[in-house]
Amino acid sequence: MGRKTLVAEPRVERAAGTFPAVRLRRMRASSGLRSLIRETRLTPDRFVYPIFVHELPQDAAIESMPGQSRQAISSLPRLARRVCGLGVPAVILFGVPQVKDEVGSGAHDPRGVVQRAIATIKDAEPDLIVIADTCLDEYTSHGHCGIVRDGDVDNDETLELLARTAVSQAESGVDMVAPSDMMDGRIAAIRHALDETGHSAVPIMSYAAKYASAFYGPFREAAASRPQFGDRRSYQMDPANGREARREVALDVAEGADVVLVKPAMPYLDIVREVRTAFDIPVGAYQVSGEYAMIRAAALRGWIDEPAAALETLTAIIRAGADFVLTYFALDVAEWLAER
Ligand code: PBG
Repeated sequence: MGRKTLVAEPRVERAAGTFPAVRLRRMRASSGLRSLIRETRLTPDRFVYPIFVHELPQDAAIESMPGQSRQAISSLPRLARRVCGLGVPAVILFGVPQVKDEVGSGAHDPRGVVQRAIATIKDAEPDLIVIADTCLDEYTSHGHCGIVRDGDVDNDETLELLARTAVSQAESGVDMVAPSDMMDGRIAAIRHALDETGHSAVPIMSYAAKYASAFYGPFREAAASRPQFGDRRSYQMDPANGREARREVALDVAEGADVVLVKPAMPYLDIVREVRTAFDIPVGAYQVSGEYAMIRAAALRGWIDEPAAALETLTAIIRAGADFVLTYFALDVAEWLAER
């Protein structure tokens, strides 16, 4: 009575495991404490930088993606050195050819824009991992990801062209091919073709769960690959479907994919987590052009703190389970992380 004791009396409010005994704010009190218990960390080696390459002699700014350009081939050695210098281990290349045709011949042209870009970068920076987007939409006059018959993309005819494209990328020295077309059976077709031509060491990064998304809008301006008719919903996934992503990934794993991607990233964090939990294969996520453009556009108007918002989205994507992220912010992020 009246004597203060340091030993808690067994009152109901002091029950172990609740407030006020437990105060989660204690471990948030300083930046040092927060750092000790941080569960997710960003480092530049978890990012892949997407590069658009065109056949003109000068770089050209991409209006819908401020800060990004279509690169001239002659600009690639300097850009590759910058990527390496920032500690970003890989780039993924998208070709923007001068000439397109019905069957996307430029995609497997040994002197095509991506083939030359691959050789140029590997020559300048042999240690930089060069991934090639393996798809036809940047090369077809109609903008679809394959051969069009009766108003729709013919799956099986397209496989042959995808396989030829992957082989020609491998012959140019690519480190990894990344089919983004969503044809059924393409991983098996590409794996078989690579193995038959002596490229069994080239891995396949499959865009396994790729959704028919509105967030690809700015990319289609950048790559001039907007479909001239219709849309891509007969081959890309319905954004409403989650379980189906597991089937897509399971098939690609069975066909020989080495790495799978979920795309877009932020609106599909549940899919990233699902794939991470259900499969042991490495999982990447693609923070696509529209995700980048939204943050950048708001930042340019002073409506959002760009580094904070971009880092938050990338932290969330990695927290959800991605091993690495393809992002147009890759170089900025590496710089922001170095400044901190
Ligand atoms: C198809 C491809 C697309 C993207 C990557 N590969 C476009 C599409 O499917 O329409 C989009 C990437 C982005 O929006 O950043 N080759």
